[in-house]
Amino acid sequence: MSDQARIMVTGGAGFIGQNFVHHIAGLGRFDKIVVVDALTYAANPTSIEPLIRSGLVVLKRGDITDATFLSRCFDEHGFDNVIHFAAESHVDRSISGPDAFIQTNIMGTYNLLKCALGDWQKRQMLDRARFLHVSTDEVFGDLTLEEPPFSETSPYKPSSPYSASKASSDHLVRAFHRTYRLPILVTNCSNNYGPFQYPEKLIPLMIINALLGRKLPVYGDGLNIRDWLFVGDHCSALSLVLEKGALGRTYNVGGNAERPNKTIVERICDIVDTAFAGSPALAKQYPSSPTATGRSCRSLITYVQDRPGHDRRYAIDSSRIRRELGWAPAETFDTGLARTVMWYIANEPWWRQAMTSGFHEWVAENYGARGALAQRLSSSQAQDSAESQG
Ligand code: NAD
Ligand code: DAU
Repeated sequence: MSDQARIMVTGGAGFIGQNFVHHIAGLGRFDKIVVVDALTYAANPTSIEPLIRSGLVVLKRGDITDATFLSRCFDEHGFDNVIHFAAESHVDRSISGPDAFIQTNIMGTYNLLKCALGDWQKRQMLDRARFLHVSTDEVFGDLTLEEPPFSETSPYKPSSPYSASKASSDHLVRAFHRTYRLPILVTNCSNNYGPFQYPEKLIPLMIINALLGRKLPVYGDGLNIRDWLFVGDHCSALSLVLEKGALGRTYNVGGNAERPNKTIVERICDIVDTAFAGSPALAKQYPSSPTATGRSCRSLITYVQDRPGHDRRYAIDSSRIRRELGWAPAETFDTGLARTVMWYIANEPWWRQAMTSGFHEWVAENYGARGALAQRLSSSQAQDSAESQG
């Protein structure tokens, strides 16, 4: 096998994964970037196609629950780095259908650990290879308003099937280090937002609904708090941890940007309103948005039935990665959110494409039971299919 630097990026066709592929392609640290992805509904990898055509990136479609497929990938490419993003990632889906979360997040991670260990033992690479497991702050459960942010030593207390499956995967990764000396690193990051996020998540859903004149469904009282990080800043943290992190160590990553959901939705409305005010072209592009006819998108905000077991607050203490590795985010929440809203406004074909993979069925399932919203959403759906047929 050659001594070229080769990295496996599982889940590299998803939101954070494809941003990461662009990030490391730009750094020029790897001779080959192999994306291993099952291409589930959450994948929409058109953005990496130019990198595939250039030969730097290879896309291998396959499922991490298939150990034979994974072993073949290791045999074929001889990776010295693995970064593991592949997961079922949406909390609401884990509540209505947890099976896929247990399979992918737990069994898939186990297979990957087993294959990496086998390959690196065989090629005597354990002292040179690196396996970075990308995890979430949700493993720590939630905080009251008074409690300090999560640190790397906060106890695990997951609330949803999603966070419990991620917690299990974190334990497996650390166990493979302690028991077999697998050279691992773990990151636990807060909520990401930015380009290429599937529209089921809060920020892209609200932007797109505001553009299409659909209700903006805020769960419960809208006062649940998340700590938001622009995806590009997560990618810079991950490449730093991969290159310089201490083996076996965990790094928490967060944006130091705690916001209640209600404030975020209002801010998105204000950014959309302002963008439309300076641009008759946008009113033409998105005629159903209230702002196209001079009303604020805030008129679409609707409070709906809460998520079961909804965590109240997340907050991350990222002082370790800042102190030890010199990481700092480049975006503030205000600059990152404005960039994100403008990206969705400008990239309608990308999110229209993403919405063809079962999105409307998901909306009907998730929001249909949440009250007044159902009627409005199903009429938007009918309008959508009329538009796509016409
Ligand atoms: P995503 O849902 O956008 O993408 C997940 C990707 O994994 C998709 O491309 C999908 O096709 C792929 N995938 C799913 N099941 C697979 C399987 N069985 N085999 C191979 N590929 C499979 O997720 P994301 O938001 O980009 O999150 C990526 C990782 O980062 C996840 O592990 C998530 O837990 C973690 N994370 C996410 C956030 C966030 O705010 N989005 C924050 C912290 C950590
Ligand atoms: O904290 C990191 C986690 O952040 C990641 O591990 C997950 O993969 C990622 O999905 C995200 O989880 P959340 O549940 O916090 O993200 P979501 O975008 O689903 O919801 C953010 C908040 O907004 C949450 O409090 C629920 C609320 N919400 C969400 C949706 C989709 C609404 O009020 N209305 C909605 O329609």
